[in-house]
Amino acid sequence: MKKLIALTMVITFVTFFASCGGNDKTTDETTAGSSETTAEATTENPSYDPNRGEGKFSSVDVGPLDSKKAELGDQVFQVKCSSCHKVTDERLVGPGWAGVTERRKPEWIMNFITNPDVMIDKDPELQAQLELCLVRMPNQNLSDDDARNLLEFMRKNDGAK
Ligand code: HEC
Repeated sequence: MKKLIALTMVITFVTFFASCGGNDKTTDETTAGSSETTAEATTENPSYDPNRGEGKFSSVDVGPLDSKKAELGDQVFQVKCSSCHKVTDERLVGPGWAGVTERRKPEWIMNFITNPDVMIDKDPELQAQLELCLVRMPNQNLSDDDARNLLEFMRKNDGAK
């Protein structure tokens, strides 16, 4: 229960503060048209690789579904992610996870969930989502294992076998 209260507080905090800070800038940028925003962001960060994202994972091997990992990932999801994400395609605070493993490379997902701050600043698609969600995804201090297990949980959710 304590965790739930803490999470609620985090969300409230993030909603009130993070959603306002910098938001005007984001809105201004996109009034010019979304294709322009993408081009701009890419030129501004020539070293950013939108397929891999930015963080410590350069390539992640995924094979047949590892149900043990997926189960552990489910547990982390319940505690640290389910307050903002659904596993369907419905948005809660953040985007629904259905199909996320098809939209994103495994290394992108693991880099993003362990290093969201840096990636939100650089990734044009994350910036577009930020605009819809009005909340920056907070760093959840995941271990490498948590991140890998969550990836497996998302793969399972997307029907990997
Ligand atoms: C406070 C709410 C919040 C929490 C908690 C949260 N997220 Fe997010 N998440 C977001 C928002 C908002 C976005 C949209 C991107 C952004 O922040 O600008 C997002 C985006 C994502 C995306 C990209 C989805 C896509 O379709 O591209 C992934 C993957 C993700 N989150 C994973 C996680 C994981 C894993 C956890 C738990 C460890 C988590 N999130 C916890 C709010 C949250």
